Amino acid sequence: MLFQNEFENLLEYTISLEDAPQKEPLRQAFFVGRCREMVSFREKILGRKLRCQATTLGCQMNAKDTEKLLGILKEIGYEPVEEQEEADFILYNTCTIRENANNKVYGHLGYLQSLKQKNPELIIALCGCMMQEKHVVDTVREKYRFVDIIFGTYNIYQLAEMIYRRLMGEMPVLEVWEKMNCIVEQIPSLRKSDFKAGVNITYGCNNFCTYCIVPYVRGREISREPEEILSEIRKLADDGVKEIMLLGQNVNSYGRGLEKPCTFAELLEECCKVDGIERIRFMTPHPKDFSDEVIRVIARNEKICRHIHLPLQSGSTEILRRMNRRYTTEQYLALAERIREGIPDVALTTDIIVGFPGETEEDFEDTLDVVRRVRYHAAFTFVYSKRTGTPAASYEDQVSPEVVKERFPRLLEEIRRIAAEECEKEVGQVTEVLVEDIDSHEEGFVTGRMGNNLMVHFPGEASLIGQFKKVRLLESKGFYYLGEEV
Ligand code: 5AD
Ligand code: SF4
Repeated sequence: MLFQNEFENLLEYTISLEDAPQKEPLRQAFFVGRCREMVSFREKILGRKLRCQATTLGCQMNAKDTEKLLGILKEIGYEPVEEQEEADFILYNTCTIRENANNKVYGHLGYLQSLKQKNPELIIALCGCMMQEKHVVDTVREKYRFVDIIFGTYNIYQLAEMIYRRLMGEMPVLEVWEKMNCIVEQIPSLRKSDFKAGVNITYGCNNFCTYCIVPYVRGREISREPEEILSEIRKLADDGVKEIMLLGQNVNSYGRGLEKPCTFAELLEECCKVDGIERIRFMTPHPKDFSDEVIRVIARNEKICRHIHLPLQSGSTEILRRMNRRYTTEQYLALAERIREGIPDVALTTDIIVGFPGETEEDFEDTLDVVRRVRYHAAFTFVYSKRTGTPAASYEDQVSPEVVKERFPRLLEEIRRIAAEECEKEVGQVTEVLVEDIDSHEEGFVTGRMGNNLMVHFPGEASLIGQFKKVRLLESKGFYYLGEEV
């Protein structure tokens, strides 16, 4: 039993789980209250606040989930800290998109064990996409028995209940649902930034690209009600947030299955009407569902950033077919062209996988060719990683590591060269940036993000953080700029 002394004092408070309200979010509010009482007893004994620390691996979705989890922990009474060594509660939000993401977590668990040996009352919780894989949970339960709480991507909102169960002696607490049983709204959130925020619009993915594990660990696509989304955005605006990013695995398919239909284009336009929100971004659109209406909505709304991340994955129609991407090279190129025509100052970025099974030298050349034609401002490049359970993992013609090793730098070099040329074109222009941070490399400088997602470093003080400033781009550094305020 954790917090033994406190527990004895609290006996009169103990309740059986069946006594808790059944309805959400009432049920969780109830457990937050219970945990808060237990935590405050503990605080009195230690003479200090209890502290929590969270590590997030992976994408923006995970980052958003961590904010919700920290929001719950804060309600319970935990104070967020940066260092794991100082924490009474350690949360690890995992990613499983590629194999090396998994290895990172196993690598770190040994260290967490040493922290637990020093402080037996430390609570360690593992969550996120990796926990949706049965073999991972089995391994953790067998080899890492010191892990207190294991939960999946659909169980985030139940953190308070799981902590309560742990404090009452259950070990480990295991809660991994196989699918989303309900969307629970109004979860508290502790935002990392005061001026920008992510907003979920869909959960899950229905696309089943053959390399990708996301549909298996994040489940089927569900759209949030537009009113829920808009009221969250209005609240964020009231809180001083200026930039939002609409989040979904395939934002362009937003609205499917809603009782009252609403398309992504319509949602975007509604978001633009929220006063106080000055910049809107979205991540990630799927090329197969990118409608001309969305292009028109972006073109006529200045608030929507001139940046579109348009994952290509491969420039070969045959590889795209084997990836189940449901567009051809020609369709992708035509879409990129329509976007550039409709939104002339747009910056396009992309994701590309090298070494998908069956990728020939010719297929790879096709990818280089698309890179040269579309002229991306930036691109994320990945070596294909075999994910157990996905169709591509059992394709026979896996590409050898030697071939991937030869292709990967060729792609990088092409992307770097073109991005540098694109950046160079904008030198001399004055652009509006949202100042995000002080520059970690240059004293007396701050870092701002342009609408097209590129960064500018310019002389300034911390007091500028969170403000929009007009900056002249003085020098291109390839994928960022040096500038000066005007
Ligand atoms: N191997 C390599 N890259 C992958 N991605 C997704 N699954 C895999 C995989 N199995 C990449 C895709 C996607 C990005 C988020 O991660 O490019 O767009
Ligand atoms: Fe994965 Fe494809 Fe869904 Fe993106 S669209 S999350 S790559 S399955």
